[in-house]
Amino acid sequence: MAHSDREVADVIQEVLLDEQAIAARVAELAERITADYAEIDDLVLVGVLKGAFIFMADLTRRLKVAHHVDFIALSSYNSGTESTGAVRLIMDTRTSVTGRNVLIVEDILDTGHTLDYLLRTFSARQPRSLRTCVLLSKPARLQVKVPVDYLGFEIPDKWVVGYGLDFADKYRTLPFIGALKPEVYQ
Ligand code: PRP
Repeated sequence: MAHSDREVADVIQEVLLDEQAIAARVAELAERITADYAEIDDLVLVGVLKGAFIFMADLTRRLKVAHHVDFIALSSYNSGTESTGAVRLIMDTRTSVTGRNVLIVEDILDTGHTLDYLLRTFSARQPRSLRTCVLLSKPARLQVKVPVDYLGFEIPDKWVVGYGLDFADKYRTLPFIGALKPEVYQ
């Protein structure tokens, strides 16, 4: 859904990362992943819906190594704006990851519970290798230590939207990543 300039001005406090900054960083991540998986012929990127859909689309198109794409859909149980740490699997990958080289693609690391759940779930399926690629990390919010192999940006503890990230399922398609005005979510 498109958003009018007026609506954006009403809810966005500041743009943290504009389109150019995101595109440049995604290109760098894709270059590193391409180099690291140059000798690998069964790389599977697993995008975590919904938030990662735009990041995944841009990253996958910049990779210069053969790979498959798959998706998993999760939801965290929230009480208001706070994660309770419990994660629910809504849709699993379509293909098996056993024996394959898996790269989990996430939009944001907040408390870490989602990525922790994913790593435990995928490890149990015995992939050949398992790594993580996360666009944004909020170090101030982290509760569970999880390994991130490819990280886009560290950001301050603000509610961010755009480039796949939402507030109440809104603002996902903004081309930039912006901080919401606190009065929007408080
Ligand atoms: C968001 C985000 C991550 C997760 C990170 O998903 O996309 O998957 O939260 O939070 P955590 O580190 O505290 O676990 P959300 O549950 O909002 O679903 P969505 O991606 O469908 O918007």
